[in-house]
Amino acid sequence: MDEAIVVGSLVKRYGSFAAVDGISFTVNKGEIFSLLGPNGAGKTTTIEILECIRSYTSGDARVLGYDVSKPRDAREIKKLIGVLPQDFSTFENLKVGEVVGFFAGLYGGKHEYDDILQSLDLSNDRNKKFDDLSGGMKQKVGIASAIVHEPEIVFLDEPTTGLDPGSRREVWKFITRLKERGKTIFLTTHYMEEAQLLSDHIGIMNRGKIAALDTPQRLIAQYGGCKKVELKLKDESLAAKISQDFETVRKNDKITVYIKNTRDLNRLMVETDYEDIEVMTPTLEDVFLKVVGINLEE
Ligand SMILES: Nc1ncnc2c1ncn2[C@@H]1O[C@H](COP(=O)(O)OP(=O)(O)OP(=O)(O)O)[C@@H](O)[C@H]1O
Ligand SMILES: [Mg+2]
Repeated sequence: MDEAIVVGSLVKRYGSFAAVDGISFTVNKGEIFSLLGPNGAGKTTTIEILECIRSYTSGDARVLGYDVSKPRDAREIKKLIGVLPQDFSTFENLKVGEVVGFFAGLYGGKHEYDDILQSLDLSNDRNKKFDDLSGGMKQKVGIASAIVHEPEIVFLDEPTTGLDPGSRREVWKFITRLKERGKTIFLTTHYMEEAQLLSDHIGIMNRGKIAALDTPQRLIAQYGGCKKVELKLKDESLAAKISQDFETVRKNDKITVYIKNTRDLNRLMVETDYEDIEVMTPTLEDVFLKVVGINLEE
């Protein structure tokens, strides 16, 4: 079995409102899968169903072959997964080392966690009280606690929210190392560069539905749109000629040119006398905005 998670036509209703509205996707073993989407799209609801802590209305959800809706299967799943909830909080008055030690004990008591603390740069904080930590440090303690028992699948619901750029990169490295050790990682994030960098597959959720599902590269090719070239011209009179040949937008002293292919890009660069040029290739952020229907240029 190569599938870690299989979800089919999954629905979660609260009264008449469908928080999850018939989604289907598969997560392969050993990959990083990211579920993206605007606030309220249904990501946490989906994750919690897979973690067997939230019931669902209809459809099917399997984790490592076990059916999340069956209590006996759910007990097996819970042994095989690690969870960082969106709002990780823990017992007051415990120190960092005690929090991670508590979770290690909860899952069998034999787990070493010095390495984990070290790789998240928490070694020097192990005697600090959890309550006295900054938000980002608490988040890292949550990540350490989620993986201390060597789970096969790690669910990380917004693991880097509130982290400074350096800590965020530490967590990226940490997640990459988890993958190298054969773990399957199920991630949600609002940081598109993070999802683009880390993910093997991405699902973009919007209003309870999966609006797009593919590898980051294929999503960018399909939805990312044109390359954009921003030019500051040496001679303003050139703008009219460029606008005849290409789709353009003027803003202050710059002209943005939308480029459909590399030949057009070469032509523009050779034929135009410019003072400054910036070539922007589409990113996952462009894909996200397109797929969830946000047009900033209107
Ligand atoms: N217990 C509940 N009762 C009613 N509605 C709920 C309940 N829990 C969640 N919802 C609704 O379900 C929708 C999806 O919520 P969810 O937490 O899954 O979104 P999300 O994609 O994780 O958003 P965010 O990016 O803000 O974390 C929201 O509209 C939310 O208000
Ligand atoms: Mg959420």
